[in-house]
Amino acid sequence: MNRLIRVLVCGMTAWLMASAAGVASAQPAAGGGQAPPPPKNLQVLKPEQVLPAMRAFTFALGVQCNYCHVMEPTRDMALDDKQTKKTARAILQMVNHVNEMIVSGTGKAAADVTSVQCATCHRGKAIPETPVAPPPAPRP
Ligand code: HEC
Ligand code: HEC
Repeated sequence: MNRLIRVLVCGMTAWLMASAAGVASAQPAAGGGQAPPPPKNLQVLKPEQVLPAMRAFTFALGVQCNYCHVMEPTRDMALDDKQTKKTARAILQMVNHVNEMIVSGTGKAAADVTSVQCATCHRGKAIPETPVAPPPAPRP
């Protein structure tokens, strides 16, 4: 019986400590105390665009951050060592250009056009797949 109580008390203590740690680590982020380091190597995006853009890239291409970024042995998102990151930056510039052309070409307001996004072509694949029309059905 004593043993059971001790196990329960230990479990509760561990749970309380874990909750306290959760609150403690959540608070600085909410208060802005632990902001990520300022970006060092942005050539296209504005700092406030980075995180939403990165989420959109990973979702659109069906990859993780390490597909474009050096994460091992140390995480350094500013490095341009991977070709995939350089490709992504070039394509991002292309997409921005295409979207400007869509606005001027349609004569619509920027807010009213359907803009091209990474997912428009990629649809969850790192290399987009182009649908190919099936060959005509053989005639009897
Ligand atoms: C498809 C490639 C790709 C993926 C996937 C990707 N990134 Fe990036 N990331 C880039 C590019 C390109 C830039 C530079 C943008 C620029 O030059 O404006 C960048 C820049 C950054 C920066 C700014 C670094 C600095 O100091 O200049 C951070 C932080 C970052 N990415 C985090 C992430 C995180 C976190 C993920 C995963 C959720 C992620 N990225 C996924 C391509 C990618
Ligand atoms: C107009 C269609 C289109 C759009 C929009 C587009 N891409 Fe791509 N992307 C491609 C094609 C096609 C390839 C394949 C190139 C090749 O054969 O290597 C590619 C390849 C890539 C690659 C290289 C993948 C690899 O494994 O080599 C990256 C990274 C990439 N795109 C990132 C992006 C990002 C980030 C965006 C949004 C900012 C984007 N793309 C939007 C068409 C597009």
